[in-house]
Amino acid sequence: MAHFVAVSGSDRAESFNTRTLALATKSLKAQKHTIENAPLADPRLPLYSQVVEIEQGQPPEVTAFRHTLLNSDGLIIACPEFNGLMPPALLNGLTWSTRDTKGNPDLKPFYLTPCLIVSSSPGGLGGIRAASQLANYLLGLGGLIYPEFLLVANAYQAYDPNSSESLVPFSQKAEQIAEGFSRFCERPS
Ligand SMILES: Cc1cc2nc3c(=O)[nH]c(=O)nc-3n(C[C@H](O)[C@H](O)[C@H](O)COP(=O)(O)O)c2cc1C
Repeated sequence: MAHFVAVSGSDRAESFNTRTLALATKSLKAQKHTIENAPLADPRLPLYSQVVEIEQGQPPEVTAFRHTLLNSDGLIIACPEFNGLMPPALLNGLTWSTRDTKGNPDLKPFYLTPCLIVSSSPGGLGGIRAASQLANYLLGLGGLIYPEFLLVANAYQAYDPNSSESLVPFSQKAEQIAEGFSRFCERPS
C-alpha cells in the first residue's frame, strides 16, 4: 500500500482536470493506496519572487506540501493546458516548493519521487503539450516520471455534465494506468 499526494492545477469547481485527477485517484484507491490532496496550485499563494521570499517567507501551504511529499510514495498532478504550458498557478506552487524555508534551493521532496501526470482539455489532444512540458520540468527536479499520461481529450463529450463519471473508456484507461503506476512505484527492497 502506497500513500500519494495529489495536486490539481485547476481551481475551477467544474474543472475537467480535477475530475480526471479524481478518476486516477479512484483507481489507485481501489488498489488500497491512500491519497492526500494538496492545494499547491491555489492562485491565492503569493507570486514567487526572491524578494517576496525574503520579505514574507515560504507560505505555510508550501511548507506543508514539501513535508507531505517528502513522506509520500509519489505525486499525481492534474495539469490543465494553457497555451501549451502548465497554468501559472501550478508553476508558482511548484517553484515555491523547490526552496526550503530559509530560501535555499532544495529539491529533496522531488528526488526519485514517482510522478503520474494527468490532463484534460476540451481540445482533441487532451493537454498533451502541457503534460509533456510538466514531465520535463519534474524530471529536471529529480522526479521519476511514469511514461504514460492519463489524457482525457474532448472533455465536454468525455464528461457527462449530469454525472461525476467519465465515459467508460477513460475509466478503463485510468484503471490500467493506476495498475502500471502502482508497479512503477514498487521500489526494490
Ligand atoms: C488562457 C487559456 C489558454 C488555453 N490554452 C489551451 C491550450 O493550449 N490547449 C488546450 O487544449 N486547451 C487550452 N485552453 C482550454 C483549457 O484546456 C480549458 O479551459 C480547460 O477546461 C481548463 O481546465 P479545467 O477544466 O481543469 O479548469 C486554454 C484555456 C485558457 C483559459
